[in-house]
Amino acid sequence: MRIRAAVLEEFGTPLAVQDVELAEPKAGEALVRLVACGVCHTDLYTASGADPSGYAPAVLGHEGAGVVERVGEGVSSVAPGDHVVTLFSPQCRECAHCRDERTNLCLAIREQQNQGFLPDGTTRFARNGEPIRHFMGTSTFAEYTVMPEIALAKISAEAPLDRACLFACGLSTGLGAAMNTAQVRPGSTCVVFGAGMVGLGAVAGCRLQGAERIVCVDLSEERLGLARGQGATETIVGGPDSVERILELTDGFGADYTFEATGNVAVMRQAVEAARMGWGLATVCGVAGKGETLDVVPRYLITGRRVAGSSFGGVKGRDGVPRLVERWLAGDIDVDPFVSHTLTLDEVNRGFELMEAQDGIRSVITFS
Ligand SMILES: NC(=O)c1ccc[n+]([C@@H]2O[C@H](COP(=O)([O-])OP(=O)(O)OC[C@H]3O[C@@H](n4cnc5c(N)ncnc54)[C@H](O)[C@@H]3O)[C@@H](O)[C@H]2O)c1
Ligand SMILES: [Zn+2]
Ligand SMILES: [Zn+2]
Repeated sequence: MRIRAAVLEEFGTPLAVQDVELAEPKAGEALVRLVACGVCHTDLYTASGADPSGYAPAVLGHEGAGVVERVGEGVSSVAPGDHVVTLFSPQCRECAHCRDERTNLCLAIREQQNQGFLPDGTTRFARNGEPIRHFMGTSTFAEYTVMPEIALAKISAEAPLDRACLFACGLSTGLGAAMNTAQVRPGSTCVVFGAGMVGLGAVAGCRLQGAERIVCVDLSEERLGLARGQGATETIVGGPDSVERILELTDGFGADYTFEATGNVAVMRQAVEAARMGWGLATVCGVAGKGETLDVVPRYLITGRRVAGSSFGGVKGRDGVPRLVERWLAGDIDVDPFVSHTLTLDEVNRGFELMEAQDGIRSVITFS
């Protein structure tokens, strides 16, 4: 079929929205009609050429929500009409990692996905017979996409898809960092560095876990306001003195749990140093630049602080995303404040501009 999609043709140039060919789903795959898709930093990171593992031409986009239209041979976990959230982090339920509760990093299709192919090593997107590669196994800046069924989370049909798409990436990452990776205990003191999509999700996750104090640190007063809306009990404008400020607020000890959601390695270090001796856990969510390292004085670790990394919030997507969506529908998570702009697919580059200007938390593309 012919569909419209936003194609990264060349790094550092705007995405080109155009007609491309999309082949039918093969065995284990589903054709999804996108209803909405968030515009995320990772799309821009790849489009800019900064990501050393990027490739082109490719159809970008990974924060999608839509409806299954058709399925390939042997597909049993989704059916036409199902509402789904796309997963850049799949869940095959069979590999060593999927069978272990300690991680969500499914091993099933990593190699092909990282190179822009579906699991059989080919693409479904093409233009004049030339393949166009998939991005993060999702490629959701498109009217339709084809994805492996193990990368589709079936969600309640009640959930509005123009907000459900946020659960495809940043929101689940933040919520999961607090709920799965750190498993924040009730009554705790938490500190969240960064109040973008991920940090705000972490604030909400800490609240859902019953944290008593949630301190959010960001550079923007406006974003700190959003953090208070998600349950932050205290807010701090960040800077070189963030650790000192947090120690002052916590009788000199630091927090039970800290979360880093900025991508800045200096802030990651602050997150370690603001964690409490004895048991403080610093959870790193941000993606650092190529070659950057985290600098930690080992004494911080010997005296009982721990560091954990969290990819997609440790959420095993097919099981975990539908549960998070249920909590939203039950009124436990306030998603509306995260959607700041609604765009058409043709306006996708405007989404990048808004993001670079830090105008709002998320732009969402909707498909009519
Ligand atoms: N681990 C994962 O699976 C995963 C998934 C999605 C995004 N990410 C990463 O998480 C990070 C956050 O993503 P986002 O979409 O929320 O980004 P964002 O840019 O919207 O938010 C980052 C926030 O950090 C704040 N910040 C910058 N410097 C700071 C400082 N010194 N002190 C305090 N706050 C500071 C900014 O003001 C901004 O509000 C990025 O690095 C992103 O790549 C990771
Ligand atoms: Zn994303
Ligand atoms: Zn797996």
